[in-house]
Amino acid sequence: MPPVSLSLDNLMADRVGASGLPTDFLAAEAASLRAAHAALHARVRSGELPFLTLHKETAALDRIRELVAAHRARFQDLVVLGIGGSSLGGRALLAALGGAGPRVHFPDNLDPDRFSALLASLDLERTVFNPISKSGGTLETLAQLLVVRDRLLPRFGPAGLAERLVVTTDPEKGFLRRLAKRDGLSALDVPPGVGGRFSVFTAVGLYPAGVGGVDLDAVLAGMAWAAELLESSDPAENPALAAAGALWALDSRHGRPVLATVAYADALRATAEWFAQLWAESLGKQGRGPTPVSAVGATDQHSQLQLWMEGPPNTVISFIEVDAFKTQLVIPPADLGDDPELAYMIGHDMGHILRTEKRGTEMALTAAGRPNLTWRLDRISGESLGALMLIWEAMTAYAGGLYGFDPFDQPGVEAGKIVAKRLLAGR
Ligand code: PA5
Repeated sequence: MPPVSLSLDNLMADRVGASGLPTDFLAAEAASLRAAHAALHARVRSGELPFLTLHKETAALDRIRELVAAHRARFQDLVVLGIGGSSLGGRALLAALGGAGPRVHFPDNLDPDRFSALLASLDLERTVFNPISKSGGTLETLAQLLVVRDRLLPRFGPAGLAERLVVTTDPEKGFLRRLAKRDGLSALDVPPGVGGRFSVFTAVGLYPAGVGGVDLDAVLAGMAWAAELLESSDPAENPALAAAGALWALDSRHGRPVLATVAYADALRATAEWFAQLWAESLGKQGRGPTPVSAVGATDQHSQLQLWMEGPPNTVISFIEVDAFKTQLVIPPADLGDDPELAYMIGHDMGHILRTEKRGTEMALTAAGRPNLTWRLDRISGESLGALMLIWEAMTAYAGGLYGFDPFDQPGVEAGKIVAKRLLAGR
Protein backbone atom coordinates (compact mmCIF):
# COMPACT_ATOMS: atom_id res chain seq x y z
CA MET A 1 0.00 0.00 0.00
CA PRO A 2 1.39 3.50 -0.84
CA PRO A 3 2.25 5.80 2.10
CA VAL A 4 -0.45 8.27 0.99
CA SER A 5 -3.47 7.89 -1.29
CA LEU A 6 -6.34 10.18 -2.16
CA SER A 7 -10.03 9.61 -2.79
CA LEU A 8 -12.05 12.39 -4.41
CA ASP A 9 -15.13 10.18 -4.98
CA ASN A 10 -17.30 12.00 -2.45
CA LEU A 11 -16.76 15.34 -4.18
CA MET A 12 -18.60 14.17 -7.26
CA ALA A 13 -22.20 14.94 -8.21
CA ASP A 14 -23.08 11.25 -8.50
CA ARG A 15 -22.37 10.97 -4.75
CA VAL A 16 -23.36 14.35 -3.30
CA GLY A 17 -25.83 15.64 -5.85
CA ALA A 18 -25.90 19.15 -7.27
CA SER A 19 -23.29 20.51 -4.86
CA GLY A 20 -20.67 18.16 -6.33
CA LEU A 21 -18.34 18.29 -9.31
CA PRO A 22 -19.29 16.71 -12.63
CA THR A 23 -17.93 13.16 -12.69
CA ASP A 24 -15.79 13.96 -15.73
CA PHE A 25 -14.39 17.04 -13.95
CA LEU A 26 -10.71 16.09 -14.09
CA ALA A 27 -10.85 15.22 -17.78
CA ALA A 28 -12.82 18.37 -18.59
CA GLU A 29 -10.32 20.56 -16.74
CA ALA A 30 -7.24 18.76 -18.08
CA ALA A 31 -6.02 21.80 -20.04
CA SER A 32 -6.15 24.29 -17.15
CA LEU A 33 -4.61 21.73 -14.77
CA ARG A 34 -1.81 21.01 -17.22
CA ALA A 35 -1.16 24.75 -17.56
CA ALA A 36 -0.95 25.22 -13.76
CA HIS A 37 1.41 22.23 -13.57
CA ALA A 38 3.61 23.47 -16.42
CA ALA A 39 3.88 26.99 -14.97
CA LEU A 40 4.95 25.76 -11.52
CA HIS A 41 7.37 23.09 -12.71
CA ALA A 42 9.07 25.47 -15.13
CA ARG A 43 9.90 27.67 -12.12
CA VAL A 44 11.05 24.60 -10.17
CA ARG A 45 13.29 23.43 -13.03
CA SER A 46 14.85 26.88 -13.44
CA GLY A 47 15.92 26.74 -9.79
CA GLU A 48 13.67 29.66 -8.83
CA LEU A 49 11.45 27.48 -6.59
CA PRO A 50 13.52 24.72 -5.03
CA PHE A 51 10.90 23.55 -2.52
CA LEU A 52 10.10 20.41 -4.54
CA THR A 53 13.70 19.23 -4.81
CA LEU A 54 15.09 19.82 -1.32
CA HIS A 55 15.66 16.07 -0.78
CA LYS A 56 18.49 16.36 -3.33
CA GLU A 57 20.39 19.08 -1.40
CA THR A 58 22.92 16.65 0.03
CA ALA A 59 25.43 19.20 1.36
CA ALA A 60 22.75 21.09 3.30
CA LEU A 61 21.25 17.83 4.59
CA ASP A 62 24.64 16.55 5.74
CA ARG A 63 25.26 19.76 7.67
CA ILE A 64 21.84 19.39 9.37
CA ARG A 65 22.57 15.74 10.27
CA GLU A 66 25.96 16.72 11.69
CA LEU A 67 24.49 19.35 14.04
CA VAL A 68 21.57 17.07 14.94
CA ALA A 69 23.93 14.27 16.01
CA ALA A 70 26.11 16.63 18.06
CA HIS A 71 23.19 18.33 19.76
CA ARG A 72 21.24 15.18 20.54
CA ALA A 73 24.30 14.00 22.44
CA ARG A 74 24.97 17.30 24.22
CA PHE A 75 21.57 18.85 25.12
CA GLN A 76 18.41 17.84 26.91
CA ASP A 77 16.17 20.66 25.61
CA LEU A 78 15.89 22.59 22.36
CA VAL A 79 13.87 25.79 22.16
CA VAL A 80 12.86 26.95 18.69
CA LEU A 81 12.43 30.72 18.46
CA GLY A 82 10.36 31.20 15.34
CA ILE A 83 6.82 31.86 14.23
CA GLY A 84 4.52 31.03 11.29
CA GLY A 85 6.33 29.07 8.63
CA SER A 86 9.45 29.19 10.77
CA SER A 87 7.82 27.05 13.43
CA LEU A 88 4.73 25.14 12.28
CA GLY A 89 6.44 22.58 10.03
CA GLY A 90 8.97 21.39 12.60
CA ARG A 91 6.24 21.34 15.22
CA ALA A 92 4.07 19.15 12.95
CA LEU A 93 6.88 16.67 12.28
CA LEU A 94 7.68 16.40 15.97
CA ALA A 95 4.08 16.07 17.09
CA ALA A 96 3.58 13.16 14.69
CA LEU A 97 6.97 11.48 14.77
CA GLY A 98 9.05 12.71 17.72
CA GLY A 99 11.03 10.00 19.48
CA ALA A 100 13.35 9.64 22.43
CA GLY A 101 15.93 12.33 23.14
CA PRO A 102 15.90 16.05 23.83
CA ARG A 103 12.57 17.78 24.39
CA VAL A 104 11.76 20.38 21.75
CA HIS A 105 9.73 23.48 22.60
CA PHE A 106 7.99 25.88 20.21
CA PRO A 107 6.91 28.92 22.24
CA ASP A 108 5.96 30.73 18.99
CA ASN A 109 4.07 33.56 20.56
CA LEU A 110 5.32 36.59 22.46
CA ASP A 111 3.36 35.65 25.55
CA PRO A 112 5.42 36.85 28.50
CA ASP A 113 3.82 34.48 31.03
CA ARG A 114 4.40 31.38 28.96
CA PHE A 115 7.86 32.37 27.73
CA SER A 116 9.20 33.19 31.22
CA ALA A 117 7.70 29.99 32.62
CA LEU A 118 9.42 28.01 29.86
CA LEU A 119 12.82 29.64 30.49
CA ALA A 120 12.46 29.12 34.24
CA SER A 121 11.77 25.41 33.70
CA LEU A 122 14.95 24.78 31.67
CA ASP A 123 18.47 23.79 32.70
CA LEU A 124 20.20 26.45 30.58
CA GLU A 125 23.50 24.58 30.80
CA ARG A 126 21.91 21.77 28.78
CA THR A 127 19.60 23.78 26.51
CA VAL A 128 20.19 24.86 22.92
CA PHE A 129 18.17 27.68 21.33
CA ASN A 130 17.37 27.85 17.61
CA PRO A 131 16.20 31.24 16.37
CA ILE A 132 14.66 30.64 12.93
CA SER A 133 13.80 33.50 10.61
CA LYS A 134 14.08 33.60 6.85
CA SER A 135 13.96 37.40 6.82
CA GLY A 136 16.10 37.60 9.94
CA GLY A 137 14.01 40.50 11.16
CA THR A 138 10.75 39.13 12.61
CA LEU A 139 9.66 40.98 15.72
CA GLU A 140 8.49 38.00 17.81
CA THR A 141 11.55 35.90 17.06
CA LEU A 142 14.08 38.65 17.69
CA ALA A 143 12.38 39.79 20.91
CA GLN A 144 12.58 36.22 22.27
CA LEU A 145 16.16 35.93 21.10
CA LEU A 146 17.21 39.12 22.88
CA VAL A 147 15.70 37.85 26.15
CA VAL A 148 17.50 34.53 25.77
CA ARG A 149 20.82 36.11 24.82
CA ASP A 150 20.61 38.35 27.84
CA ARG A 151 20.28 35.27 30.07
CA LEU A 152 23.00 33.22 28.36
CA LEU A 153 25.75 35.78 27.82
CA PRO A 154 26.40 36.83 31.45
CA ARG A 155 26.28 33.23 32.61
CA PHE A 156 28.25 31.42 29.91
CA GLY A 157 30.29 34.18 28.20
CA PRO A 158 30.69 34.59 24.42
CA ALA A 159 32.00 31.04 23.86
CA GLY A 160 29.20 29.47 25.92
CA LEU A 161 26.64 31.62 24.09
CA ALA A 162 27.99 30.41 20.74
CA GLU A 163 27.65 26.79 21.91
CA ARG A 164 23.99 27.28 22.82
CA LEU A 165 22.62 29.26 19.87
CA VAL A 166 22.09 27.84 16.37
CA VAL A 167 20.70 30.34 13.91
CA THR A 168 18.60 29.29 10.87
CA THR A 169 18.28 32.10 8.35
CA ASP A 170 19.08 33.42 4.88
CA PRO A 171 22.66 32.50 3.86
CA GLU A 172 23.64 36.14 3.29
CA LYS A 173 21.09 38.71 4.40
CA GLY A 174 19.34 39.96 7.50
CA PHE A 175 20.03 40.71 11.15
CA LEU A 176 20.23 37.05 12.24
CA ARG A 177 22.97 36.32 9.72
CA ARG A 178 24.88 39.40 10.87
CA LEU A 179 24.51 38.31 14.50
CA ALA A 180 25.70 34.79 13.67
CA LYS A 181 28.86 36.24 12.11
CA ARG A 182 29.40 38.77 14.89
CA ASP A 183 28.92 36.27 17.75
CA GLY A 184 30.50 33.28 15.95
CA LEU A 185 27.27 31.23 16.13
CA SER A 186 26.55 28.01 14.28
CA ALA A 187 24.25 28.78 11.37
CA LEU A 188 22.01 26.80 9.04
CA ASP A 189 20.60 28.15 5.79
CA VAL A 190 17.08 28.80 4.57
CA PRO A 191 17.61 28.54 0.80
CA PRO A 192 16.73 31.93 -0.77
CA GLY A 193 14.00 30.56 -3.07
CA VAL A 194 12.13 28.73 -0.29
CA GLY A 195 9.46 30.72 1.56
CA GLY A 196 8.71 30.19 5.26
CA ARG A 197 5.61 28.03 4.90
CA PHE A 198 7.29 25.90 2.19
CA SER A 199 10.42 25.33 4.28
CA VAL A 200 9.64 22.25 6.37
CA PHE A 201 12.15 20.16 4.37
CA THR A 202 14.99 22.62 4.99
CA ALA A 203 16.87 23.17 8.25
CA VAL A 204 13.79 25.11 9.41
CA GLY A 205 11.84 21.89 9.96
CA LEU A 206 14.50 19.20 9.80
CA TYR A 207 16.97 20.44 12.43
CA PRO A 208 14.40 20.64 15.28
CA ALA A 209 12.73 17.45 14.09
CA GLY A 210 16.05 15.61 13.99
CA VAL A 211 17.08 16.82 17.45
CA GLY A 212 13.70 15.61 18.73
CA GLY A 213 14.31 12.12 17.38
CA VAL A 214 12.47 12.17 14.06
CA ASP A 215 13.97 9.82 11.47
CA LEU A 216 14.98 12.40 8.86
CA ASP A 217 15.89 9.80 6.25
CA ALA A 218 12.35 8.42 6.41
CA VAL A 219 10.84 11.91 6.00
CA LEU A 220 13.10 12.58 3.02
CA ALA A 221 12.27 9.19 1.49
CA GLY A 222 8.56 10.10 1.73
CA MET A 223 9.27 13.45 0.16
CA ALA A 224 11.23 11.81 -2.68
CA TRP A 225 8.37 9.35 -3.28
CA ALA A 226 5.87 12.21 -3.55
CA ALA A 227 8.21 14.31 -5.72
CA GLU A 228 8.05 11.53 -8.37
CA LEU A 229 4.24 11.69 -8.44
CA LEU A 230 4.34 15.47 -8.81
CA GLU A 231 6.28 15.17 -12.06
CA SER A 232 3.12 14.06 -13.85
CA SER A 233 0.77 16.65 -15.32
CA ASP A 234 -1.98 14.01 -15.42
CA PRO A 235 -4.27 14.55 -12.42
CA ALA A 236 -5.02 10.82 -12.36
CA GLU A 237 -1.37 10.29 -11.39
CA ASN A 238 -0.65 13.51 -9.47
CA PRO A 239 -2.88 13.75 -6.37
CA ALA A 240 -1.76 17.29 -5.56
CA LEU A 241 -2.92 18.50 -8.96
CA ALA A 242 -6.24 16.64 -8.80
CA ALA A 243 -7.02 17.96 -5.30
CA ALA A 244 -5.96 21.51 -6.18
CA GLY A 245 -8.25 21.49 -9.22
CA ALA A 246 -11.19 20.06 -7.29
CA LEU A 247 -10.86 22.46 -4.33
CA TRP A 248 -10.41 25.48 -6.58
CA ALA A 249 -13.51 24.54 -8.60
CA LEU A 250 -15.60 23.85 -5.48
CA ASP A 251 -14.68 27.30 -4.15
CA SER A 252 -14.92 29.35 -7.31
CA ARG A 253 -17.88 27.60 -9.01
CA HIS A 254 -19.83 25.81 -6.30
CA GLY A 255 -19.70 28.25 -3.36
CA ARG A 256 -17.47 26.08 -1.13
CA PRO A 257 -14.70 28.40 0.13
CA VAL A 258 -14.15 26.69 3.50
CA LEU A 259 -11.78 23.72 3.65
CA ALA A 260 -11.95 21.83 6.95
CA THR A 261 -9.05 19.42 7.40
CA VAL A 262 -10.08 16.78 9.90
CA ALA A 263 -7.28 14.49 11.07
CA TYR A 264 -8.45 11.23 12.60
CA ALA A 265 -5.33 10.89 14.78
CA ASP A 266 -4.19 13.16 17.59
CA ALA A 267 -0.61 13.00 16.30
CA LEU A 268 -1.74 14.78 13.12
CA ARG A 269 -3.46 17.75 14.77
CA ALA A 270 -0.34 19.89 14.26
CA THR A 271 -0.11 18.74 10.62
CA ALA A 272 -3.62 20.08 10.02
CA GLU A 273 -2.60 23.35 11.73
CA TRP A 274 0.53 23.60 9.58
CA PHE A 275 -1.61 23.12 6.49
CA ALA A 276 -4.10 25.80 7.59
CA GLN A 277 -1.30 28.38 7.60
CA LEU A 278 0.05 27.15 4.26
CA TRP A 279 -3.38 27.36 2.58
CA ALA A 280 -4.45 30.68 4.18
CA GLU A 281 -1.25 32.65 3.72
CA SER A 282 -0.68 31.37 0.19
CA LEU A 283 -4.19 31.76 -1.19
CA GLY A 284 -5.89 34.60 0.70
CA LYS A 285 -5.26 37.37 -1.83
CA GLN A 286 -6.99 40.16 -3.74
CA GLY A 287 -10.27 39.90 -1.80
CA ARG A 288 -10.63 36.20 -2.64
CA GLY A 289 -9.35 32.82 -1.57
CA PRO A 290 -10.39 29.82 0.50
CA THR A 291 -10.64 29.63 4.30
CA PRO A 292 -8.94 26.72 6.08
CA VAL A 293 -10.16 25.17 9.30
CA SER A 294 -8.22 22.51 11.20
CA ALA A 295 -9.90 19.88 13.31
CA VAL A 296 -9.42 16.45 14.85
CA GLY A 297 -11.74 13.48 14.64
CA ALA A 298 -13.50 12.09 16.53
CA THR A 299 -13.11 15.04 18.93
CA ASP A 300 -14.63 17.60 16.57
CA GLN A 301 -17.56 15.33 15.71
CA HIS A 302 -18.77 16.60 19.07
CA SER A 303 -17.94 20.20 18.24
CA GLN A 304 -17.91 21.34 14.59
CA LEU A 305 -19.60 18.48 12.76
CA GLN A 306 -23.13 19.84 13.33
CA LEU A 307 -22.11 22.98 11.42
CA TRP A 308 -20.64 20.99 8.54
CA MET A 309 -23.70 18.73 8.32
CA GLU A 310 -26.48 21.29 8.62
CA GLY A 311 -24.91 24.74 8.61
CA PRO A 312 -24.26 26.90 5.54
CA PRO A 313 -23.35 24.69 2.57
CA ASN A 314 -19.97 26.36 2.13
CA THR A 315 -17.51 23.73 3.36
CA VAL A 316 -15.47 20.88 1.90
CA ILE A 317 -14.28 18.34 4.47
CA SER A 318 -10.80 16.94 3.92
CA PHE A 319 -10.33 13.83 6.07
CA ILE A 320 -7.00 12.31 7.03
CA GLU A 321 -7.43 8.63 7.81
CA VAL A 322 -4.71 6.36 9.20
CA ASP A 323 -4.89 2.71 8.17
CA ALA A 324 -2.88 1.25 11.04
CA PHE A 325 -2.00 2.78 14.38
CA LYS A 326 1.13 1.68 16.27
CA THR A 327 -0.91 0.48 19.20
CA GLN A 328 -3.68 -2.08 19.38
CA LEU A 329 -6.06 -1.42 22.25
CA VAL A 330 -9.02 -3.75 22.34
CA ILE A 331 -12.12 -2.65 24.26
CA PRO A 332 -12.29 -5.30 26.95
CA PRO A 333 -14.99 -7.97 27.00
CA ALA A 334 -15.79 -7.30 30.63
CA ASP A 335 -18.76 -8.62 32.46
CA LEU A 336 -20.87 -5.93 30.74
CA GLY A 337 -20.62 -7.53 27.30
CA ASP A 338 -24.29 -8.52 27.27
CA ASP A 339 -25.53 -4.96 27.71
CA PRO A 340 -27.04 -3.79 24.39
CA GLU A 341 -25.61 -0.29 25.01
CA LEU A 342 -22.06 -1.75 24.89
CA ALA A 343 -22.09 -5.01 22.97
CA TYR A 344 -21.40 -3.38 19.59
CA MET A 345 -18.01 -2.01 20.68
CA ILE A 346 -16.65 -4.71 22.94
CA GLY A 347 -13.85 -6.69 21.34
CA HIS A 348 -13.05 -4.00 18.77
CA ASP A 349 -9.66 -2.30 18.53
CA MET A 350 -9.79 1.42 19.42
CA GLY A 351 -8.08 2.39 16.12
CA HIS A 352 -10.72 0.42 14.23
CA ILE A 353 -13.47 2.24 16.13
CA LEU A 354 -11.90 5.60 15.27
CA ARG A 355 -11.67 4.67 11.56
CA THR A 356 -15.26 3.46 11.66
CA GLU A 357 -16.36 6.75 13.20
CA LYS A 358 -14.62 8.54 10.34
CA ARG A 359 -16.39 6.33 7.80
CA GLY A 360 -19.73 6.93 9.49
CA THR A 361 -19.17 10.68 9.40
CA GLU A 362 -18.04 10.52 5.78
CA MET A 363 -21.13 8.53 4.77
CA ALA A 364 -23.47 10.86 6.68
CA LEU A 365 -21.89 13.96 5.09
CA THR A 366 -22.10 12.40 1.64
CA ALA A 367 -25.75 11.45 2.12
CA ALA A 368 -26.43 15.05 3.22
CA GLY A 369 -24.88 16.36 -0.02
CA ARG A 370 -21.77 17.72 1.73
CA PRO A 371 -18.65 17.18 -0.41
CA ASN A 372 -15.69 15.47 1.28
CA LEU A 373 -12.40 13.88 0.30
CA THR A 374 -9.99 11.53 2.07
CA TRP A 375 -6.22 11.47 2.37
CA ARG A 376 -5.33 7.97 3.51
CA LEU A 377 -2.01 7.22 5.25
CA ASP A 378 -0.87 3.61 5.55
CA ARG A 379 0.46 4.54 9.02
CA ILE A 380 1.93 7.56 10.76
CA SER A 381 5.55 7.44 9.67
CA GLY A 382 8.31 9.64 8.31
CA GLU A 383 7.48 8.32 4.83
CA SER A 384 3.77 9.15 4.99
CA LEU A 385 4.27 12.56 6.65
CA GLY A 386 7.06 13.53 4.25
CA ALA A 387 4.87 12.53 1.32
CA LEU A 388 1.70 14.21 2.58
CA MET A 389 3.41 17.49 3.43
CA LEU A 390 5.10 17.75 0.03
CA ILE A 391 1.84 16.87 -1.75
CA TRP A 392 0.05 19.60 0.21
CA GLU A 393 2.76 22.15 -0.59
CA ALA A 394 2.43 21.34 -4.29
CA MET A 395 -1.37 21.34 -4.07
CA THR A 396 -1.21 24.85 -2.59
CA ALA A 397 1.17 26.03 -5.28
CA TYR A 398 -1.00 24.55 -8.10
CA ALA A 399 -4.08 26.14 -6.52
CA GLY A 400 -2.29 29.50 -6.58
CA GLY A 401 -1.88 29.10 -10.33
CA LEU A 402 -5.55 28.21 -10.78
CA TYR A 403 -6.74 31.19 -8.72
CA GLY A 404 -4.28 33.44 -10.54
CA PHE A 405 -2.40 34.39 -7.34
CA ASP A 406 1.25 34.28 -6.45
CA PRO A 407 1.09 31.69 -3.64
CA PHE A 408 4.62 32.51 -2.50
CA ASP A 409 4.13 36.04 -1.21
CA GLN A 410 2.27 37.38 1.84
CA PRO A 411 1.85 41.15 1.43
CA GLY A 412 -0.90 41.26 4.07
CA VAL A 413 1.37 39.78 6.72
CA GLU A 414 4.22 42.12 5.81
CA ALA A 415 1.94 45.15 6.14
CA GLY A 416 1.06 44.27 9.76
CA LYS A 417 4.71 43.67 10.63
CA ILE A 418 5.69 47.10 9.29
CA VAL A 419 2.95 48.93 11.22
CA ALA A 420 3.75 47.13 14.51
CA LYS A 421 7.42 48.05 14.21
CA ARG A 422 6.50 51.68 13.54
CA LEU A 423 4.17 51.81 16.53
CA LEU A 424 6.81 50.31 18.83
CA ALA A 425 9.31 52.87 17.62
CA GLY A 426 6.80 55.60 18.64
CA ARG A 427 6.22 56.80 15.08
O1 PA5 B 1 5.20 31.54 5.60
C1 PA5 B 1 5.69 32.64 5.77
O2 PA5 B 1 6.35 33.22 4.90
C2 PA5 B 1 5.49 33.35 7.10
O3 PA5 B 1 4.57 32.66 7.89
C3 PA5 B 1 6.81 33.44 7.83
O4 PA5 B 1 7.33 32.15 8.03
C4 PA5 B 1 6.65 34.16 9.18
O5 PA5 B 1 6.05 35.41 8.99
C5 PA5 B 1 8.00 34.31 9.85
O6 PA5 B 1 8.88 34.98 8.99
P1 PA5 B 1 10.43 34.84 9.13
O7 PA5 B 1 10.81 33.42 8.86
O8 PA5 B 1 11.01 35.80 8.14
O9 PA5 B 1 10.77 35.22 10.54
